[in-house]
Amino acid sequence: MPLMQISALLPNTVLSQDIFENPNSKMPLLKKGTVVSAEYLYGLKRRGISHISVKEAMFTNEDGFVINSKKRDDSLKGMPFEKSRAAVPPKLRKELTAGLCNLHLAIGGKDKDEVVNSINQLADLIADVVEFLSEDPTAPLNITSLQSDHEFVYAHCVSVAVLSLAIGQSMGLSTYELMQLGRCAILHDLGKLMIPAEILLKTEELTLEERMKLRTHCELGYDCLKMWNVCTENERLAIFSHHERLDGSGYPEGLTSEKIPMWGKIVAVAEVYDAMTNPHPPAKAESPTMTREYLIAHANKYFDPKVVLALHKRVEFYPLGCFVEISSGHYALVTSSKNRLRPVVKVMGLNNEIDLKESRNSDITINRIVSYKEALKRN
Ligand SMILES: [Fe+2]
Repeated sequence: MPLMQISALLPNTVLSQDIFENPNSKMPLLKKGTVVSAEYLYGLKRRGISHISVKEAMFTNEDGFVINSKKRDDSLKGMPFEKSRAAVPPKLRKELTAGLCNLHLAIGGKDKDEVVNSINQLADLIADVVEFLSEDPTAPLNITSLQSDHEFVYAHCVSVAVLSLAIGQSMGLSTYELMQLGRCAILHDLGKLMIPAEILLKTEELTLEERMKLRTHCELGYDCLKMWNVCTENERLAIFSHHERLDGSGYPEGLTSEKIPMWGKIVAVAEVYDAMTNPHPPAKAESPTMTREYLIAHANKYFDPKVVLALHKRVEFYPLGCFVEISSGHYALVTSSKNRLRPVVKVMGLNNEIDLKESRNSDITINRIVSYKEALKRN
């Protein structure tokens, strides 16, 4: 039953005790067992309450991963493979996650000034990501470092922002354009912060009604930014159109190729890559190879081929040091990623190395990338 500082918590934390405004209050503000939403967290902060007792807390650890308090001791610090994991520095990733959480709380509290502040802070952090990526614009991007066992939408937004920027950089966008692209990419699922958590975090298949509700997040994000007069119209339109597809089969409006803004097309590819390789729940993950195949197969139909090509050029699909599940069901560590799609892997438990590019190993496929925690738990 840890007593946690409110500023360190994320929405969806469960209370283990009633919360009273002051020691003389008879009626609790919130009752034990309440799942504390963004709106509640914002309200508690505003009332000067700094600590609460929680049963199950959601917060970010020192590496910037969104984790559950029960997993706090599951530290992987000091493992040698950690050195290969930097796509963006963990501190920056943590700041982006915290920035999204602040924005979530501000929206929950319907506080316009705070919303504008949070978005400006996120824009500053996007500038840091652009600067970081510009240090080596051709280096393969180790996107698996963005994986997280999160139960929330923040980690996805951060991944999509970094991927979109890497794609934009590969396509030769200017720093000014990258800043705008990064801003709409980090905010692309802003509307999801207004969707009930029961739908957002549901692991079973959504009903038709729930799916339709979830689909409204494109308009919700656009309307929210428009109402508060935040971001340029181009940025808002990219957020509005990130689920549109070239052949008109997307939503919310079924726009076709030439009507979809370029930034919307870039965010769409980054969004699908992250959603397929790093979904919730993680067991449903597709391998980067399969995801790449899907994007290539649907280039021209759903996705802009220039954008898909840019992603292919920039992403390191199986970075050195990442864990994968192979078709035999074993977990394996990538020990050489010179061949981007068929790496050399060391099978855990068996301890032998397999070079997947050799023809005798052509029957062995990679099912998915798995998190470090999952791989270590099994072995
Ligand atoms: Fe979305």
